[in-house]
Amino acid sequence: MIKVRNLYRSFGEKQVLKGINLTVNKGETFLLIGRSGAGKSVLLKNIIGLLRPDSGTISIDGVDITQLTNDKLERIRLQFGLVFQGSALFDFLTIEENVGFFLTRHTSLRKEEIRKRVTETLALVGLKGIEGSYPYELSGGMRKRVAIARAVIYNPKILIYDEPTTGIDPIAVDKIVSLIEDLHKRLAITSLVVTHDLEVGLKLAERLAFLLGGKIIFEGDKKALESTTDERLIQFLKGSSGGPIKEMEV
Ligand SMILES: Nc1ncnc2c1ncn2[C@@H]1O[C@H](COP(=O)(O)OP(=O)(O)OP(=O)(O)O)[C@@H](O)[C@H]1O
Ligand SMILES: [Mg+2]
Repeated sequence: MIKVRNLYRSFGEKQVLKGINLTVNKGETFLLIGRSGAGKSVLLKNIIGLLRPDSGTISIDGVDITQLTNDKLERIRLQFGLVFQGSALFDFLTIEENVGFFLTRHTSLRKEEIRKRVTETLALVGLKGIEGSYPYELSGGMRKRVAIARAVIYNPKILIYDEPTTGIDPIAVDKIVSLIEDLHKRLAITSLVVTHDLEVGLKLAERLAFLLGGKIIFEGDKKALESTTDERLIQFLKGSSGGPIKEMEV
């Protein structure tokens, strides 16, 4: 479970997070929405320990990670699988090396064992026989799958998706959505999703939160969203129904 309490984070004079409260329950898929620049990525980076907050607490399964030393934080970070916007694969490594990266770095598994795990995990995301390829040889949708395989290979407890479907065509989007749903069922994992594509987000998530002005001004399930009377949230939902903002991958 992820519990964020009274979280503040500024960059110089600019206050980005101004007292965030948020709870992501074990095993659920949780959606975080908000306008561009609202602070979604900054919040995610605090949760995975890439940024330190100015004040407040973030507890991951009961451990307040804001109090940990960098060494301990590094270990906690291995509980997270990260799927970044644009896939963020290592261009100079093969798909096998990309997907096996964390096992090679953080375990003493032998090369053959890692190779076997890589092949199994690629099969899990619907990819076969591409171990020797390089990222530039794959389509955007395939790269997303590889990024998801790389994130799930070391059995993380929590998966973080920042814009998992941005920049790919609608058919590939549907496939990635089914894949995320399927993985969620199979691995019984807790997922936190940030996406501009509200339709995708609502398909995936059971509960959601809306970040505005540095605070979470709505947290609840989809039923609560439908009956919300908060004008700011209604405006946001209206703005999103015109279609997702497409940030094409370059
Ligand atoms: N390292 C940093 N240094 C200074 N300012 C930063 C830094 N990271 C983020 N910011 C600022 O924090 C604010 C929130 O940024 P963030 O990337 O979290 O937005 P976001 O909600 O993820 O937006 P988007 O939907 O466009 O990805 C922005 O004004 C950004 O300029
Ligand atoms: Mg962002």
